[in-house]
Amino acid sequence: MLNQTFIERPELMHTKNIVVIGASGHGKVVADILAHMPGYRVMGFIDAYLKKGTVCFGDLTVLGAEQDLPALMATQQITGGIVGIGDNWIRSQVVAKIQALVPSFEFINAIHPAAVISDTASIGHGNVIAANAVINTNTGIGHHCIINTAACIEHDNRMDDYASVAPRVVTGGNVSIGAYTAVSIGAVVKHGISIGEQSIIGAGAVVLKPVEPFSIWYGVPARKMGERQAGDRYL
Ligand SMILES: CC(C)(COP(=O)(O)OP(=O)(O)OC[C@H]1O[C@@H](n2cnc3c(N)ncnc32)[C@H](O)[C@@H]1OP(=O)(O)O)[C@@H](O)C(=O)NCCC(=O)NCCS
Repeated sequence: MLNQTFIERPELMHTKNIVVIGASGHGKVVADILAHMPGYRVMGFIDAYLKKGTVCFGDLTVLGAEQDLPALMATQQITGGIVGIGDNWIRSQVVAKIQALVPSFEFINAIHPAAVISDTASIGHGNVIAANAVINTNTGIGHHCIINTAACIEHDNRMDDYASVAPRVVTGGNVSIGAYTAVSIGAVVKHGISIGEQSIIGAGAVVLKPVEPFSIWYGVPARKMGERQAGDRYL
């Protein structure tokens, strides 16, 4: 988790033309959040797996693939955007591709106006913070994380880059979630627990013990059910 900054206030800036990379379900949720954020105008989606012109959300269409970004940015005054891909590993690969293609691409945060974020929390860039999410006092969120609908990240937590918490996840105070780790829908993590990088916490789990990196835990109470490698699919 590097170079954290306090939350952007796009309403205080000029409107920026942006794109959402990834037009699947999560990408559409991200576009929906951005539609509620003054300061940004979503121009469309970037998606290599859909035909250019495909209508995806409202009147927003697929503008092209990643390799089309340099030309699109020049012709449509696009300054940046956000990767709206739910899988943590794939999201990181796409971010790396964009950084290589267009080093000037500005990764923004998509923060729903109904999210509640402490003034003392720090938030990196490229993050999605959905409706009714709560991020409490002194918590640090890295870059390109997902805090999904109605998740509650309590005080003094730390989420490293490319980590995600699904809808209705609840963490107690002083929890840490390692890079690329996914905490699945409705899971509860006891205060003070450390979850290593590249791990998966299953849906509905209650995590009472520290979770080692590269492992899969689920159940009530959660137990280690397996191991995994970087990039293994989990959604
Ligand atoms: C943890 C998880 C990744 C495991 O997936 P998997 O390895 O493919 O597991 P399987 O589906 O093969 O299930 C294996 C067994 O574990 C059980 N199991 C799987 N996930 C479980 C969970 N979260 N809690 C309790 N039991 C679970 C299954 O019922 C099955 O039991 P059975 O052999 O008696 O039938 C997955 O179940 C999960 O929880 N994914 C989260 C998805 C999510 O949150 N999506 C929302 C994103 S917004």
